[in-house]
Amino acid sequence: MSAQIISGKEIASQIREELKTEVEQLEKKGIQPGLAVILVGDDPASHSYVKGKEKASIELNFYSVIHRLDTDTSEEEVLSLIRELNQDSKIHGILVQLPLPKHISEKKVIQSIDPAKDVDGFHPENVGNMYIGLPAYLPCTPHGVIQMLIRSGVQIEGKHAVVIGRSNIVGKPMAQLLLNQNATVTICHSRTPNLAEITKQADILIPAVGRAGTVTADMVKPGAVVIDVGVNRVDGKLVGDCAFAEVKEVAGMITPVPGGVGPMTITMLMYNTVESVKRHNSNR
Ligand code: GUN
Repeated sequence: MSAQIISGKEIASQIREELKTEVEQLEKKGIQPGLAVILVGDDPASHSYVKGKEKASIELNFYSVIHRLDTDTSEEEVLSLIRELNQDSKIHGILVQLPLPKHISEKKVIQSIDPAKDVDGFHPENVGNMYIGLPAYLPCTPHGVIQMLIRSGVQIEGKHAVVIGRSNIVGKPMAQLLLNQNATVTICHSRTPNLAEITKQADILIPAVGRAGTVTADMVKPGAVVIDVGVNRVDGKLVGDCAFAEVKEVAGMITPVPGGVGPMTITMLMYNTVESVKRHNSNR
């Protein structure tokens, strides 16, 4: 039997409807959520992601500001722009699209963002708070994955979740959020020698590697829930990390690419921005 498809697109649109109601409530109080995005350079994938973020912001009636800067913009110029945005009361969320050109320190840039406006959840203060279970902005992609699992009725507590990948953006926070939900968590990566042996034990399998064909049908336990975070272009077509056609014949539930995790990432960014507005106004 073929796996049930978890549509990120549908779950994302459900969450956006909920957000729309919240934004309308805020509007009545004269508040408009403001999101600033900084993009440095001409990476086509980054430009496409930022366009998606801009579109979602406009659809939700946010105040949306996009700073598209040349590749040769200096680190100091970026830091100075962030300092300005940190002080700007119309801006509730600041996102710097990664990766940055090599001459700009990602670490310095992330640390210069006001943690209260860090809607990506990449600042060490938010990472630390997430780690010990204090309120924090949760990184958008892993947060989106958790929402997909919960809203699809998947039980996380007590299950064995296997994450493939250990990036700061996805793999590491993904594992931590699953742990916070009481899963038993294993993290695999490029130096894991017996990958298939471990993935076959997963009740919930989350590949986040960025390499097409990483997960094949023989690596999946029958009935497992597979959330594919990978985004790869093969012959001009978007595919995930799973060999989808064969894995869906073994898995119990699976997300497609496109239309899976992608729409959730942007939606959780909108969610974090609304969250920032609410926190800001409850502190006054
Ligand atoms: N590049 C790839 N994913 C992300 C993300 O979630 N946030 C930012 N800022 N850059 C990214």
